Amino acid sequence: MSKKILISGVKPTGTVHIGNYFGAMKQFADFQDKYESYVFIADLHALTSVQDREQMSESILNVALDYLGIGLDPEKVVLFKQSDVPEVTELAWTFNCLTTMPYLMRAHAFKDAEAKNKEINVGVFDYPILMAADILIHDADVVPVGQDQKQHIEYARDTAEKFNRIFGDTFKLPESLILENVATVIGTDGRKMSKSYGNIIPLFATHEEIKKAVMGIVTDSSSGVPENVYNLHKLFRSEEELKNLYEEKKGKYKDLKEALIEDMESFISPMRERREKFAKDKDYVIKLLSENGAKMRAKISSKMEDVRRKIGIKID
Ligand code: TYM
Repeated sequence: MSKKILISGVKPTGTVHIGNYFGAMKQFADFQDKYESYVFIADLHALTSVQDREQMSESILNVALDYLGIGLDPEKVVLFKQSDVPEVTELAWTFNCLTTMPYLMRAHAFKDAEAKNKEINVGVFDYPILMAADILIHDADVVPVGQDQKQHIEYARDTAEKFNRIFGDTFKLPESLILENVATVIGTDGRKMSKSYGNIIPLFATHEEIKKAVMGIVTDSSSGVPENVYNLHKLFRSEEELKNLYEEKKGKYKDLKEALIEDMESFISPMRERREKFAKDKDYVIKLLSENGAKMRAKISSKMEDVRRKIGIKID
């Protein structure tokens, strides 16, 4: 039996953090043998917020290195850049024409942006539809993501169903793969870890950065257990082991933070080293992305021909 297809991506918008890692990226690595895996750099999505040539190019390369650093094996996982398959934008347009405005206005990300009175670009509004195209064009079965992306996978399913209903069976309905205990990783201030809150711990942090971030964790618990420290700590060590440590060091927040720093350092350092090795060979990384981009483009061409035939624009 052939393997099921896994698709997911990360936006090149800055530093990847441990919320991205435990919420989604770790699953890309853990499942690379189980699924036929395609993991991409969502550069077209990043364009909704990154509008600076150098920052964009640098961040793309950084996410590619992050993927290699966490141990994605390029022999097992096809790592590619979203924009190297420009047909996703054609498919997104096709989906746009089947999608109503009120439906997209219900999207959490759009509503959040609106609540903040942000000047919202059309890309932000249409974000879920491009994401549906990313997923559906590759016939994905599973999409590992954090909780904040769940609604987007539902949009992809709804869009697939709508297209199939109008034009006939074409797209598979994907499932999100969200691990319960890491669905929303908490940041240093107790809120969801997010670049926009300034509460992140970078995944490839140096020892100094780890120290600084951990020492900055907000600890205002009265129970003797610093909740925000514990919540992060349990990502790196089993709760069984932590139970003894937190009992023994009750109320000693500095000692607990130091234990967390040590555990994070031993977890992160091998990944940091692997990433540094690849960072020395950027030509390899650029070539890998470009070859895989061409491969993926060829791979989806018959799917797109089918879509064009179904909607009636391919008439030969
Ligand atoms: P992005 O780059 O914002 O985030 C990458 C992944 O990290 C997860 N994540 C978290 N998980 C748990 N706790 C957190 N605090 C946390 N913060 C972020 C996100 O849920 C995500 O899985 N829209 C996507 C990129 C994308 C995509 C796709 C993903 C574009 N097309 C198609 C899957 C399939 C995004 O913004 O990811």
